[in-house]
Amino acid sequence: MSKQILILAGDGIGPEIMSAAERVLGVVNEKFNLGLSWEHGLLGGCAIDAHGVPLPDVTLKAAKKADAVLLGAVGGPKWDTIERSIRPERGLLKIRSELNLFANLRPAILYPQLADASSLKPEIVAGLDILIVRELTGGIYFGQPRGIRTLENGEKQGYNTDVYSESEIKRIAKVAFDMAGLRGGKVCSVDKANVLEVTELWKQTVTELAASEYPNIQLSHMYVDNAAMQLVRAPKQFDVIVTGNLFGDILSDEAAMLTGSIGMLPSASLDENGKGMYEPCHGSAPDIAGKNIANPLATILSVAMMLRYTFREETAAKAIEDAVGKVLDQGLRTGDIMSDGMTQVGTQAMGEAVVNALA
Ligand code: NAI
Ligand code: MG
Repeated sequence: MSKQILILAGDGIGPEIMSAAERVLGVVNEKFNLGLSWEHGLLGGCAIDAHGVPLPDVTLKAAKKADAVLLGAVGGPKWDTIERSIRPERGLLKIRSELNLFANLRPAILYPQLADASSLKPEIVAGLDILIVRELTGGIYFGQPRGIRTLENGEKQGYNTDVYSESEIKRIAKVAFDMAGLRGGKVCSVDKANVLEVTELWKQTVTELAASEYPNIQLSHMYVDNAAMQLVRAPKQFDVIVTGNLFGDILSDEAAMLTGSIGMLPSASLDENGKGMYEPCHGSAPDIAGKNIANPLATILSVAMMLRYTFREETAAKAIEDAVGKVLDQGLRTGDIMSDGMTQVGTQAMGEAVVNALA
């Protein structure tokens, strides 16, 4: 197997957090003899500046060739006035769809050291570790027909179509079951099967797949409105949640905020062959760009996800996560997670601390 990574640092804080993450990647690569190699490319505003488009052909080609893409963040005020079709964010949407990244994984982990960052009571969130698996290339965000039309009486009407085929449901459910097998063994499938036919098929398909191929996974079902409630009432009841594009968009943001710290949250988007794009959940944070104060840990934890899911290097992935735990134990904090009695450090110092904890 080739082991090639394309690094796209992007805009704003992207280059700073990526430089810290790349140091960590270099150290685990050597320490665990992973045999990974990587090159750099342009995506987003920096690509617009250099090539006039947010996703240049040369970047797309390199991304298709690579086994994994590691992304910082794209966008910023400099490119906000550009025509919509060539804005930085379009480059991001295009690379996701060109790579067929249908499975979006968003862990929501509350590090015990950051328990006071959550807005929920400590006893409700302490030890929280859940994984949302969101279908990313289907459902109502992509369904046809869609549009805004004018009715005969002159009134305007907006419409979208929520559509999932069995094969689309099966492949995302498989991802969720496989992930659950690596974790707590539980999957909760979230739907609105009492009202929407498309999710009635979702529920049936997930149930059949579990029965035929995943007898050891404990599968449950929940309506999305209840799931939204349960996530803030008793989030620790969940292990893996699997759901469609729209419900997943909302629930993954809700779950992320249980941890209270955007600078700590990684994500993965996978295709059918284990290829993936890995990125922090946050954006390019133009308000703090270039100041060496951004939190690099979400990007560093994205490296861990990449090692786990694309390269199947669980030991190395775990080592990074443990190292992050260690620096938090040492009381080191970037500004976004700073609290009384802790030691505030900058982006590169935080990255170096993780490197030292690994060694
Ligand atoms: P944002 O996530 O960039 O920033 C929101 C707030 O969180 C800001 O106050 C920022 O300083 C802070 N923040 C974000 N990441 C941080 C980190 N690692 N350490 C410390 N503080 C951090 O979201 P916003 O402001 O809505 O968007 C800014 C730009 O980023 C926009 O151009 C937007 O389109 C783009 N964006 C890009 C994304 C991506 O590349 N995947 C995702 C979200 C937004
Ligand atoms: Mg969202």
